[in-house]
Amino acid sequence: ITGKSYKYYDLKSIAGDAFEKMPHVHRILLENVLHEPDTALRDKAVAALINWTKTGSGKEAIPFAPTRILMHDTTCGPALTDIAAMRDVLSENGVDPALLNPCVPVATSTDHSAPVDYFGTSDALDRNLKREFDRNSERYQFMKWATKAVDGFRVFPPGTGIMHTINMERVATVVSKKTIENQDWLIPDTLIGTDSHTPMVNSLGVLGWGVGGLEAEGAMFGVSVNIRIPDVLGVRLTGSLREGVTATDLALRVTEILRQAGCSGEFVEYYGPGVASLTLGDRGPAANMTPEYGASTGYFPIDAHTINYLRETGRTNEHCVLVEAYAKAAGLWFDPASEPRYTKVFEIDLSKLELSIAGPTRPQDRLSPSSLASVLQKVDVADVSLKVGSTAVGIPQDAVAIAAITSCTNTTDTGFLIAAALLARKAVAKGLRVPSWVKTSIAPGSPAAFLRLTRAGLLTDLEALGFFIVGYGCTTCIGNSGPLVPEVSAAIIKGAIHPIAVLSGNRNFPGRVHAQIDSSFLMSPALVVAYAIAGRGNIDIQKDPLGVDGQGRDVHLSDLWPTDKEIQDALFLAMAEDDVAEAAKKADANELWANLTAPNAALFPWDNASTYLRRPPFVAISPAEENDVDVSCNPLLVLGDDVTTDHISPAGSIPTDSDAAKWLVERGENPNDLNVYSSRRGNWEVMLRGLFTNKNLINYLNAKKSVGKTVFASTGETLPVWIAASRYQEEKLPVIIIAGERYGTGSSRDWAAKGTELLGARAVLANSFERIHRTNLVGMGILPLRLPDGWKASEQKIDARDKFVIRYNFNDLSPRCIVPVEWQRAQNEAVSHLDLTLMVDTAHEITLLKNGGIISTI
Ligand code: F3S
Repeated sequence: ITGKSYKYYDLKSIAGDAFEKMPHVHRILLENVLHEPDTALRDKAVAALINWTKTGSGKEAIPFAPTRILMHDTTCGPALTDIAAMRDVLSENGVDPALLNPCVPVATSTDHSAPVDYFGTSDALDRNLKREFDRNSERYQFMKWATKAVDGFRVFPPGTGIMHTINMERVATVVSKKTIENQDWLIPDTLIGTDSHTPMVNSLGVLGWGVGGLEAEGAMFGVSVNIRIPDVLGVRLTGSLREGVTATDLALRVTEILRQAGCSGEFVEYYGPGVASLTLGDRGPAANMTPEYGASTGYFPIDAHTINYLRETGRTNEHCVLVEAYAKAAGLWFDPASEPRYTKVFEIDLSKLELSIAGPTRPQDRLSPSSLASVLQKVDVADVSLKVGSTAVGIPQDAVAIAAITSCTNTTDTGFLIAAALLARKAVAKGLRVPSWVKTSIAPGSPAAFLRLTRAGLLTDLEALGFFIVGYGCTTCIGNSGPLVPEVSAAIIKGAIHPIAVLSGNRNFPGRVHAQIDSSFLMSPALVVAYAIAGRGNIDIQKDPLGVDGQGRDVHLSDLWPTDKEIQDALFLAMAEDDVAEAAKKADANELWANLTAPNAALFPWDNASTYLRRPPFVAISPAEENDVDVSCNPLLVLGDDVTTDHISPAGSIPTDSDAAKWLVERGENPNDLNVYSSRRGNWEVMLRGLFTNKNLINYLNAKKSVGKTVFASTGETLPVWIAASRYQEEKLPVIIIAGERYGTGSSRDWAAKGTELLGARAVLANSFERIHRTNLVGMGILPLRLPDGWKASEQKIDARDKFVIRYNFNDLSPRCIVPVEWQRAQNEAVSHLDLTLMVDTAHEITLLKNGGIISTI
């Protein structure tokens, strides 16, 4: 086909009799280690992987060399500030800074700060995009500088889509060509991404997972990515989805099952005869929600659906044929009858799945839509109304304040959007409308959706209900929901209503979707439209009428729900193979991006007056730690379970009364337009002041429960966390943070760890850690120590003056070794001994800790 011959590894012959039982994810890891240049390391890793299949156990560390790295603007920004600062350090030490370049390609999207400031009109898309440039052009100029100064750095401009959709549609190759020692090789396309939803591309047979920004930074500059051979959970699918049940329902059910099973960092692989019944679009949400079920991957092996998707998205015939030929020859083609060896197997009969939603605050809390009302918070009904023309309309206490078709999870596949639009079409035909208190929006994963919905004549149906396209970016999913309808916002402030958000996203932690909304429900786009029409949460959406038609007859969800045939017929009209390329061409040529000027120099010219970009203090050549460590630490914070990265380092709006806002306003920023924290991640001064300021966070040290404050041991004062931390640093007193289960759940944001380092924390003691945040802590040289089971910090009455003495010698440390900690109580001078587990996976991570983290290692 290509006129070339390629070398490739035939995994069947290499794995021998272990091959048939080897999970696909391990086959790809095997292929990857076969290219390891250190032959002793390679042979050991090959043997360990084969042995895992034979015995079902083995935790040896193996190297992993991804073919590429994926980032987004808010994780790339801090990485770029580090890179720019590292170049400064090189230059200051007489080394040519232009030598510091990534050794693998880096693709970055600019999707995470896309706002929904404007909605409900046909110009909302353009106005939001303009606003995006008005607010963030300094950051985008910085990224543009990187495309010129840093080799292999590609940026997808604002408006080109959400990173995972871009990855699926434009970047992923499934099979890569690589020249190794003058020979052309075919190798699997593999990646790491600085976003926890990176595994969405696992639906396309591409192995990759989310890592912290620091780990990606290391991989960019040749610091090896080492992993322990992962346990693999098999999700065996049988049957096929029933009429009316969506792939969102599958994703929510998997999330529920695997979270209940305590999934924690394992690789998940889907297999069984049911896999063949799922299109790529159906696989996407289940792969995407990998972090929500606690796994590292949600892998679907390569099969005919993979090839179909590559064709649908405009990949060349030559490439599609090559992918199929390679996957079959190398041993990566899916066999629905195969029964690989897994650590544990979960069975899901697709035909038994039901319509589902999840909420109000955790994605694993799956509900039938009929029971949504049972989890709503009740408030006394007050007389709150909103003027529509000359009529006053009462806003219900359980109002739907936000109805957002949002997120890569459920907007990457056009079928989801078409189902929502068909429901809208039927509703409009029956005279139904969306109440004026609902903020409606649609933000597809890529602009190809616009072409497809328009071609099928369905965009106008969504628009008739107020669902106008507001952007091609993360928008509501990341909390950039923009302001609510003013009357709704005012009523919430008065405490008169307690509205909800409905969205097709993947996360709903309190305050994530919108600072004023605590209850958010995840669901398919079609259900989002249905709830928008209902306008309230306290109904049984499967039984109660959503409204009445022109003749006064009740209209129920079942009257509006599109059939599978209707969806297929509309898809047939909508899809064309050149949509992705055509939409991308237009979006890439964005004038606002083209007109941005950017410096053309190896060193970035920092501006001391900038409120977005400041040279970070943690980028420096620091000496490695002494071998003997003996530190006596005060507890800076004592926290409970489920502290998320949102709690640690916020992403959303900067409150006007916050210390971060004060810093910005003192430097001339408009107090009414401070942008979001995630846009300020190039500015450590702002990020420092935002740490641990989430209003839902309980700090058990702080009896007054003042938001964002803690007790400073030396004086007993209650101070903002960052001020208490700086006082400890002035007094040269190291600190630790103590927490409960699942510490660091959420995203890959490295600022949650960088901030912890800026606060001076030597260690975080928790009952359990989420994988990515744990690696980020190690990446900043902070010890993650696991507390004994059942030892709850929140119940221990820890005093700020207590001391936790941590002693170890680096030469004695090994993955998961015990680190003894002495807890000296201030009140009665009692001393307790705690045996904590060092939560590192590999010897390589211990080296990183000794070096003081990844940046100093680079
Ligand atoms: Fe963005 Fe939400 Fe996807 S934040 S990358 S749309 S999960």
